[in-house]
Amino acid sequence: MSEATGRDDPLDRLPKVDLHCHVEGTMRRETVIELAAHNNIELPTSDPAELYHYSSLDSFLEVFWLVQSLLVDRDDWTRLAYEAVVDSAAHGLVYGEFFFTPARHLEQGQFLADIVAGLDEGFAAAEQETGAQVRLIADMDRAHGPGAALAMVSQLIDLRRAGATGMDRVIGVGMDSTEEGVNPADYVAAYELAERAGLRRTAHQGETTPPWTIQAALDVLRCERIDHGLSVLDDLEVTRRMAAEKIPLTVCPTSNIKIANHVERLELHPYAEMRDAGLLATLNTDDPALTELDLGIEYRAVHDAFGYEFADMVAIAGDGIDASWLDDDGKRRLHARLRSAAEELQDSG
Ligand code: ADE
Ligand code: ZN
Repeated sequence: MSEATGRDDPLDRLPKVDLHCHVEGTMRRETVIELAAHNNIELPTSDPAELYHYSSLDSFLEVFWLVQSLLVDRDDWTRLAYEAVVDSAAHGLVYGEFFFTPARHLEQGQFLADIVAGLDEGFAAAEQETGAQVRLIADMDRAHGPGAALAMVSQLIDLRRAGATGMDRVIGVGMDSTEEGVNPADYVAAYELAERAGLRRTAHQGETTPPWTIQAALDVLRCERIDHGLSVLDDLEVTRRMAAEKIPLTVCPTSNIKIANHVERLELHPYAEMRDAGLLATLNTDDPALTELDLGIEYRAVHDAFGYEFADMVAIAGDGIDASWLDDDGKRRLHARLRSAAEELQDSG
């Protein structure tokens, strides 16, 4: 396989899914600067990249929240969504389930209907242009507490029932932000409400906390996927169960180095061990623009760090499809597309 990078890299061109990508974390640097100017928000620096060095998840969240604060009206969300998909599709994204985390915007008076409609407009334009497809997961922000989470899910369901614009794009709920000192079980009311309304369920868990929190997300919140789940291998029983039940983990190895500071180098990341343990450990970007990453770079980095073959990376891409919330027909179509592209790329590689 060639050592090429960027669009010359078969791993960049391979059709891929991303099940763990925060749309706010895709904001281009130019967009950060332009939205700050447009919305009269002062940035602490003229080059946002200077901010993109993190000593912990919580220090990252300060930057994430600053970037989020630049999204002030519906058009800002539209621009963000459009650019997110165009930029991801340029590196092989064919299907994404992207998070948005509206707690602080709602607190500041924005309407959930406007946020979703704005995102939907941008996604639709980019889908038309690129052929990629994107769905949304509405994340609860743990920094805002269980009450705000329940209110957000309840509003979401009301808007869905009313047939509000873009709501059919929101297929599930999740939970992100700081983990430490938070018991996932405190969010049970919001998750129960989401389940009753037919929404899919995931949660960021085990990024910086022990495996009992993963177990609580599975048992109490009835999550169908776990985002990150880095600590899973610390508990043999949880590992065995997740492997046996094929409960997907949406792993983001580069993020775990740059954001959670979990390991220093990719070679030290438990990703390969997770897969060796039989876990459905998928590969995703988290906050690509805030960690100078894209899906092609992530696949290349993991390939190189663990000595994987091209066929291993195709299998990882296939696991992403299986872990998605597409229906069986959608999964079959993506698998067929992956298979035929992989054959072509293998020959050209
Ligand atoms: N929000 C955006 N990225 C996140 C991450 N890696 N962990 C928790 N919350 C986040
Ligand atoms: Zn995340």
